[in-house]
Amino acid sequence: MLRRLLPCLALGFVVSATFAADAPFPGPRGEKLDLAAREDLWDKPPQGFLAEFVRVPRDQVVGFALYTHDRGVLKLSAQLYPLKPDEPREVRLEFRRDGTWREAARAPVLYPGWSAHFRLTPWEGRADVPYRVRHGTSAVFEGLIRRAPLDQEVIVVGSLSCDSNKDRGDRAEIVRKLRQQDPDLLFFAGDQSYDHQEHTAAWLLWGAHFRDIIKDRPVVAIPDDHDIGQGNVWGEGGLVADSTAGDSGGYYYPAEYIRMVDRCQTWHLPDPVDPHPIGQGIGVYFTRLRVGGVDFAILEDRKFKSGPKGKIPLMGPRPDHIREPGYDPKAIDLPGLQLLGERQMKFLREWGQDWTGARLKAVLSQTAFCGAVHMHGSKSNRLLADLDCNGWPQTQRNLALAELRRALATHLCGDQHLSVVVKHGIAAHRDGPYAFTNPAIVNSYYGRWWEPADGLPGANPVPGSPLKWTGDYLDGLYNRITMIAYANPTFADIKTMAAHQRDPKAELGDGYGLIRFNTKTGETVFECWPRYADLAQGDAAQYPGWPVKFRMEENDGRAVAGYLPELIVTDARDPVVQVVRESDGDILYTRRIRGDRLRPPVYAAGTYTVKIGRDRPDLWTKSGLTAATAADRAGELRVKLGPAKR
Ligand SMILES: [Fe+2]
Repeated sequence: MLRRLLPCLALGFVVSATFAADAPFPGPRGEKLDLAAREDLWDKPPQGFLAEFVRVPRDQVVGFALYTHDRGVLKLSAQLYPLKPDEPREVRLEFRRDGTWREAARAPVLYPGWSAHFRLTPWEGRADVPYRVRHGTSAVFEGLIRRAPLDQEVIVVGSLSCDSNKDRGDRAEIVRKLRQQDPDLLFFAGDQSYDHQEHTAAWLLWGAHFRDIIKDRPVVAIPDDHDIGQGNVWGEGGLVADSTAGDSGGYYYPAEYIRMVDRCQTWHLPDPVDPHPIGQGIGVYFTRLRVGGVDFAILEDRKFKSGPKGKIPLMGPRPDHIREPGYDPKAIDLPGLQLLGERQMKFLREWGQDWTGARLKAVLSQTAFCGAVHMHGSKSNRLLADLDCNGWPQTQRNLALAELRRALATHLCGDQHLSVVVKHGIAAHRDGPYAFTNPAIVNSYYGRWWEPADGLPGANPVPGSPLKWTGDYLDGLYNRITMIAYANPTFADIKTMAAHQRDPKAELGDGYGLIRFNTKTGETVFECWPRYADLAQGDAAQYPGWPVKFRMEENDGRAVAGYLPELIVTDARDPVVQVVRESDGDILYTRRIRGDRLRPPVYAAGTYTVKIGRDRPDLWTKSGLTAATAADRAGELRVKLGPAKR
């Protein structure tokens, strides 16, 4: 490992010595990027908060580290503060085993971005292993690589996003609570930086906010629009955008900047499943991570999505905002428009059928598959639709949700600032999966509110809910959604919210989500905690309407038309069952069942093929099965899977 790195290190020194003062980002759009974290920052007096902030004592230059491990591979990124010209551009990774620290690897510190990356295999993951990242003689960052929680019944995920730059103070109240709740995985869904042109310094500040919880557990961080300096982003496969509004599609700032952001935030994720870069050589990171028995698909909402400008008719003040009541939703749901893109849809299709090491599935991405919002920015700005959400294009939204439903996967995201739990509808209300949008960490950047114009609850409101507006609705894109819970700020404008952002009594709709996946029973619990919540008060300290509980099977809410013969698997526990409709080859679902038997539900008359296996549906097949109604029994089928496929 060391020998392999030496030539690149030598090259790194030559490059930095020769071009130290050169701009790392080409062209006029790159001129002002990352000024607070450039190599030449030591030549000038610091200007502004971030430029001051990055000048840390030299024993603190290792800011933080992030890691994941799965399938025998540990990936860890170390994030450094800007280094001085005479300081080494190398960090060491050490592990403590049997009471002794030993160096495991070295890696060059990359510029721009000041990150260093380690990929170690084989990684057993059977024991907790303390690690530390060292730089020079005195700087060290220490944490713990947790063992894989394979025997743990409940896997807990902390879900956070939108770390507002209006509050430069600490996040101690959130960190303290999360240390107590001790999640097995932290998911930062985006907008870790709101300092558009200063990602490196802002990312270091984010790390300073959260280092005490990110140091000793796996972390998924995925960048969103503000992280790459845009108000919104529709990446459209890597085009060049015509403004930072992003609505033309593509990226405004040079690809070097986008690649740096992706590298700092996502390099430590498991290897991308389909690593081919998009336009401008921008990479992709969409992948899969298993933590305990929960299998997470990590998606990139924005990278392939089509930009609205010039592709659809203007129906509001800007190409991505719709205000015209009574508009025809089909006018904007045009063929050829992309949402997740073909490559991620293919990944989801394959991921949904592979239950290796998985008992529950969840999808992590930046934003919601609907527009569960009425007012944007202030309570006086009522919009019908915001095309930045994944509710548009609607056909692609429905296809993406259908993939989640095939795997009985729930969806976790951020971006919206307004926290909601929604049950999606695809062809009918409530026939799709549950989804949880986390609240903004600090809700002082852009407020949103859920408040139907007619002030009425939807059909089928949540029984006993303390909230006024739950039940079945259409969002502004005419997508079917059922509102289960929402955490509206009680203030009406962002200025007042910002003025109260550190007021523990103010109801700002800020905080974080906590998700408990019970891998034994299949129950999922969504919790929503205000920034200043007091955990000693128990569930009463959560936002009204939470916690929300449901079973894995409820992520598929289609009306059952009948059941296929009961399957009794004689030589496997908890096998994987797939049902395929024979008329068109459509996969109804692929699920890991609990126990040894299932009466597979189907949603229409017809003939079906059932496939069963231990981790994939690959060992046993029976075609031509038809359903009996719920009252009748369709008989039973005894299934012997035989030996596993090799
Ligand atoms: Fe945000």
